[in-house]
Amino acid sequence: MTVKQVGIIMNGVTGRMGTRQHLIRSIIAIREQGGVPLANGDIIMPDPILVGRDANKLQALAEKHKIDRWSTNVDECLADPYNIIYFDSQTTVRRVEAIRKAIKAGKHIYCEKPTATSTKESLELAELATQAGVKNGVVQDKLFLPGLLKLKRLVDSGFFGEMLSVRMEFGYWVFEGDWQEGQRPSWNYRKEDGGGMIVDMFAHWRYVLDNLFGHVKSVSCLGVTHIPQRIDEKGTPYACTADDAAYATFELEGGIIAQVNSSWAVRVNREDLLTIQVDGTEGSAVAGLRDCKVQHRVNTPKPVWNPDIENPFNFSEQWVNVPDNQIFDNGFKIQWELFLKHVAADEPFAWSLLEGAKGTQLADLGIQSWAERRWIDVPELSLGVKQDGETVYTAK
Ligand SMILES: NC(=O)c1ccc[n+]([C@@H]2O[C@H](COP(=O)([O-])OP(=O)(O)OC[C@H]3O[C@@H](n4cnc5c(N)ncnc54)[C@H](O)[C@@H]3O)[C@@H](O)[C@H]2O)c1
Repeated sequence: MTVKQVGIIMNGVTGRMGTRQHLIRSIIAIREQGGVPLANGDIIMPDPILVGRDANKLQALAEKHKIDRWSTNVDECLADPYNIIYFDSQTTVRRVEAIRKAIKAGKHIYCEKPTATSTKESLELAELATQAGVKNGVVQDKLFLPGLLKLKRLVDSGFFGEMLSVRMEFGYWVFEGDWQEGQRPSWNYRKEDGGGMIVDMFAHWRYVLDNLFGHVKSVSCLGVTHIPQRIDEKGTPYACTADDAAYATFELEGGIIAQVNSSWAVRVNREDLLTIQVDGTEGSAVAGLRDCKVQHRVNTPKPVWNPDIENPFNFSEQWVNVPDNQIFDNGFKIQWELFLKHVAADEPFAWSLLEGAKGTQLADLGIQSWAERRWIDVPELSLGVKQDGETVYTAK
């Protein structure tokens, strides 16, 4: 048995996602469990170097988690052949330039979503990585949530019969920052800094819909900025230039209709921050982040519209929980383990920069639909189609 150390540049590791999900819950958790075992008995041990702007923050983070490598010089880290993976969880607008450089340096690429704020740039990254022959992957964490894994189990078992519709409700109240601090970074509400609900969340909805229910064929979207002014981390008021809610309908292959409401200006009156209801001819399900409940055709009550009497049904009691039947690990960690095996042992990994580009594409088309107040079809994205030297994508 050999232990293979894998040097990973972690850029943006001092941020919300970088510290909590990627460093603590993934890389440190993998190191603490003794690495990632391969089929031949060898072990992959991730060895991170923490990268950012602020030396004090990096040093404190490194010391707190007993990590001996940190740097404020990303170029030096890229020049070191020991580091074979470049990971990026910086704010979205910084990602493209950083990844271009890392590909040029021959590093394998793993990064947060969205990979860019335009389809053109997202696709460019996918193409550059493919041309350079480096392995690449994008975080698609929602696929590994226990609730969504249970939904996938139901889909794979044929539980729904013919799937008819999907209703997704996402969001919660994000405080404006005046009398209570906002619980998300202020750049999220400034378009010029890469913010916006559509750019942020359609990157998720694309892979959730594509992977669970059917490929997205068409989009109709209305974006809105409900809260026009917020207060930033320094207590300064700023204008919200990005959408903070999106009300969208998607047509999926197979004629499935998905309605997706996403809002940071909604108070939660549902069982979870994200709920997904699927209705099919044979049965229905509602999934949250961890739980999933079902109602089969044979258990479906027969309500009759009659407001003159007290409601005789307790609708929420008419559903049955889907059991865990397995241990669910952190979704970010599972995907890191799969990516490390992809890099070190050439195992398959489905969530490439091209899949990431599809998320950005859906966001772009959602914004276009909103601007033009019409349905927009989603062309199939493919790599390497050139027209006048430009990367283009074509509808098939
Ligand atoms: N997968 C998910 O569920 C999920 C959830 C939230 C955010 N995200 C994505 O993760 C990324 C980071 O989001 P976050 O919420 O952690 O943001 P954040 O603001 O907490 O962190 C951003 C990081 O980028 C760094 N950074 C910002 N400006 C910089 C600059 N000028 N130079 C160098 N570094 C700079 C910051 O120091 C920090 O390390 C975003 O792309 C976001 O879309 C993904």
